[in-house]
Amino acid sequence: MAMACSLDMPFVAPPQPRTRPLTPHPPSNSCKILSPSSRFLGEDPAPSRRFRVSSPIKSAPFARRSRLTLVAMAKPDPLKIMISGAPASGKGTQCELITKKYGLVHVAAGDLLRAEVAAGSENGKRAKEHMEKGQLVPDEIVVMMVKERLLQSDSLENGWLLDGYPRSLSQATALQEFGLQADLFILLEVPEEILVERVIGRRLDPVTGRIYHLKYSPPETEEIAARLTQRFDDTEEKVKLRLRTHHQNVEAVLSMYKDITIKVNGDAPKEDVFAQIDNALSKLLEQGKAASGSLAA
Ligand code: AP5
Repeated sequence: MAMACSLDMPFVAPPQPRTRPLTPHPPSNSCKILSPSSRFLGEDPAPSRRFRVSSPIKSAPFARRSRLTLVAMAKPDPLKIMISGAPASGKGTQCELITKKYGLVHVAAGDLLRAEVAAGSENGKRAKEHMEKGQLVPDEIVVMMVKERLLQSDSLENGWLLDGYPRSLSQATALQEFGLQADLFILLEVPEEILVERVIGRRLDPVTGRIYHLKYSPPETEEIAARLTQRFDDTEEKVKLRLRTHHQNVEAVLSMYKDITIKVNGDAPKEDVFAQIDNALSKLLEQGKAASGSLAA
């Protein structure tokens, strides 16, 4: 695995489900503590990650007592992860495995767009024109769609796994302006000659949403095999256009996230790819817990 950062952190068990919903919280009700992302990278700590507290600091009548209450009840925010890579690098496949273990909400820009296309909405019709040419769908369609999904209560409560967004500098900037910051940016690296084969062999199960490949991940039963579908942009001709678009934009996006990026070798069996990601996520969680624990001490 090519890693852009050090991962020598202790292991921790996955997060426990939350019993109450998290809501966006204003700065006056928040304790800022060391950023797990910065510590993850072994850099100087930066006060970017917030922890929920039980009551507003400023309105507490007894400063010392309320400070202790605040500290004891500090609780890490759920994980916010981005996953990126060329077409067919395995983003969706890894998202299936990550959500299964970590319970994050999978927000895939491509899936949101395909849902609009299937619904036949005006946005869907416009989006399809661009998707068929392997181009990026215009920001005025994609940006709000993704933002709204990330701000739904399940994403806020459980954390999110953002797949295929941002794909341009303007999309990354928009996310930043909305105050939506990721803890980790996962970049899947796969040689280009493999990507075309993956696209052509990909099939989708419309019943379960699972991703298959005729050669690398074939359906388990004849019944599943009979109902598999193929995406309209999964042709050799279209994937070459998608790859060109990817190359035009990828460097600008990477430059925005270099401090929180891990590069993962995606040219390995999917379980091995997941093991690399799992390791990084476990360590990130451990850091969040250690940070909230040290606040409570
Ligand atoms: P999107 O749906 O995001 O497509 P993509 O980025 O081209 O990525 P894919 O979904 O094709 O691949 P994947 O990386 O998820 O791979 P998968 O796991 O399925 O976007 C489609 C279009 O929507 C874009 O072209 C654009 O027009 C538009 N769009 C999307 N987001 C946008 C945005 N932010 N802004 C503007 N426009 C946007 O795996 C692929 C195959 O490989 C599968 O068959 C799988 O079984 C197999 N496989 C996976 N991992 C492995 C492995 N380790 N070994 C062997 N086989 C594997």
